[in-house]
Amino acid sequence: MCNTDKSNKIVHSTAFPFLETKKRIAILLDCYLEKSKKSELKVLKQEQPEYIAEKLQLNSILKNGFQNLDNLEKFVNNYLKHTNHLRSPKYMGHQVAVPQDLSGIPDWIHGTINNPSSLYEMGPAGATLEGFMINWMLSKLNWFKGNDLCDFDNHQNNGSGILTHGGSVANLTALSAARASIAPNAWTEGNPNDLVVIGPASAHYSISRSLSIMGMGKNAFIPVPVDSNEIILTCHLETILKDIKGENKRVMAVVANACATSSGLFDPIEEMAEFCVKNDLWFHVDGAHGAAALLSENEKQKVAGIEKADSIIWDAHKMLQVPALCTAVLFKNQEHQWNNFKQKGSYVFHEYEVVGMDSMPFTVECTKSALGTKLFWSFALKGEKAMTQFIEKSFQKARDLYKYLSSLDDFYCPYPPESNILCFQFRPNQLSNQNQLALRYELINSGEFYITSCEFQEKRFLRTVLLNPETNKKDFIELAKTITKIGIKIISDQKEK
Ligand SMILES: Cc1ncc(COP(=O)(O)O)c(C=O)c1O
Repeated sequence: MCNTDKSNKIVHSTAFPFLETKKRIAILLDCYLEKSKKSELKVLKQEQPEYIAEKLQLNSILKNGFQNLDNLEKFVNNYLKHTNHLRSPKYMGHQVAVPQDLSGIPDWIHGTINNPSSLYEMGPAGATLEGFMINWMLSKLNWFKGNDLCDFDNHQNNGSGILTHGGSVANLTALSAARASIAPNAWTEGNPNDLVVIGPASAHYSISRSLSIMGMGKNAFIPVPVDSNEIILTCHLETILKDIKGENKRVMAVVANACATSSGLFDPIEEMAEFCVKNDLWFHVDGAHGAAALLSENEKQKVAGIEKADSIIWDAHKMLQVPALCTAVLFKNQEHQWNNFKQKGSYVFHEYEVVGMDSMPFTVECTKSALGTKLFWSFALKGEKAMTQFIEKSFQKARDLYKYLSSLDDFYCPYPPESNILCFQFRPNQLSNQNQLALRYELINSGEFYITSCEFQEKRFLRTVLLNPETNKKDFIELAKTITKIGIKIISDQKEK
């Protein structure tokens, strides 16, 4: 509720005046960013949820509300104290974008106006930005045939795409389209029981999970042998295909990693694409993390051949600095998007011409947030050239860390990195898999650094994903020192036992 006073100033009759509330929160966030960037706070301070719930006074606020602005401010301040500081240069954790200072503004606008963008008429600006950014992504693959990115007509031979909430939903969407292509009746009659999907065993779990969700069962995923770095061995593809045909089964899709979640290494996409073209098979590239290499002249050879895929997914909330979530599902042939969900909902899927474009018929979601706005904003803050530089620098940082750790006797790095993900171990001869895991927990519990761990080559590795523009060589030196200190203590504790 607001009305105007005599001086025509807007007067809000609420306990939380809009501008003043936003201002106070902005000040808290500004301070948070400052301290995070200077590493003045622990990257993560792990507390039990009961402790956090009590500190945040959840019971009493749920019942009585904040009541006044001071309480609201106190709550936000406390909330920020119990967060993972991705803006700290010592955050080298998951594949989750480290946003720019002002990346949150589209979420704020969306939260204020709530214009879901899956129906054009519910959010014309948001839907337009989605269409525009999809055109931009298609253009990176040479799948956009319009004259200008603001051309929203479905040109013949144009690819197509939509934005959706995350890579897992995106993989499900793409695999569903692959099924619609090979078994068009599956939507109404259920799955034929002869469909399988092949790809490296290192494919993200959302691939086999999608097959389960689609009722095909996760055993419908047939892993192709991989090399010692878990990269698919294309020499096995023909034999596997022959065996599958021998069992009277059909390959619904061939999946490639670009890049693999654990290692950050890329499958040989060109070779896999050729195999798929030769055998008329659907080729799906999971580019959740690595499709961003397309922006860089120096890095794009890692995804060479990607434009021969039938479907691609690309997470903007990994390498494009967009706050979670925002993923593109892209199709080379727009018909595959049209045929994907052969389903009618008369209140939303129009039989007649509508103004603008609705993405709802092509997504798993019905309502979805203004994802295109978030993606556009990420570029708008600094431009495409700066984004390209960010990606190149992130990849370079992994090479720098690899070089540095490889120069130290105590560290083992199994491969030179191809993206900004790097796995390594501390004294693998002395520390078991369990110990590597314990080392990681001690490290993150110290609050000094935040890194992840993964299984690779059937062993436990420490893992860094270098997404923070502020992380530099000084942090790498300190990381190695801190790991060494913790690792040596684990070894000496073991000896005492
Ligand atoms: C290769 C790959 N595909 C898919 C996903 C799933 O993406 P999301 O976390 O956005 O669901 C990930 C996540 O790490 C990934 O690395």
